[in-house]
Amino acid sequence: MKQMLNIALPKGRLGEKVYGMFAEAGFECPEALEESRKLFFENEETGVRYFWVKPSDVTVYVERGACDIGVAGKDIIMENEPDVYELYDLKAGCCRMSESALNDYVEDCTRTLRVATKFPNIATKYYSQFGRDVDIIKLNGSIELAPIVGLSDVIVDITETGTTLRENNMREFRVIANLSARLIANKANYEFKKEMIENVRKKLEMLSENKA
Ligand code: PRP
Repeated sequence: MKQMLNIALPKGRLGEKVYGMFAEAGFECPEALEESRKLFFENEETGVRYFWVKPSDVTVYVERGACDIGVAGKDIIMENEPDVYELYDLKAGCCRMSESALNDYVEDCTRTLRVATKFPNIATKYYSQFGRDVDIIKLNGSIELAPIVGLSDVIVDITETGTTLRENNMREFRVIANLSARLIANKANYEFKKEMIENVRKKLEMLSENKA
């Protein structure tokens, strides 16, 4: 039986874009974009099997070897800190992790800083560099509401166009990291399937070079 490469893609807009890159690079599996509730698709001809995974879970599937490779946002990689290889920057889904607050916010350094975020690990590490005393408030979405209702002083969250911040009378104070989608690989599976994985990486690289 032909050896297949198991690939975890983040479900949603970014995943569809990334699937398009894989398809263009020669690893298509046309049914993958069909409207259905099915979560895995394979194409024996191109040797790939795609799994549509919740974006924040891609690192789990790859770290544990359930998938050989995957595509995860740098935000998820920084937050989950999986023991995987980061092979390639796909330069898709570019955005940034920022510290933001209401436009008229003035920091009082004598008080504990209340930080609302979906990324407690990233936020904790960021403030610990400065020895800043923080109270991390973990939320799961609509983070921009937190300063408006007085739940937090600042937020640590993803900013792409800046529209969400602007429309909620907020602005970025500091950029913490630039983010984009990364190709990651399970460390043990990388050794077993090195040729296949490197072939995928090289073809993706060639594709982006041809477009540049
Ligand atoms: C993300 C992020 C910001 C917004 C930034 O939220 O958390 O809220 O996008 O994008 P912008 O700078 O282009 O406005 P998402 O849409 O994922 O939903 P969430 O608020 O439920 O996390």
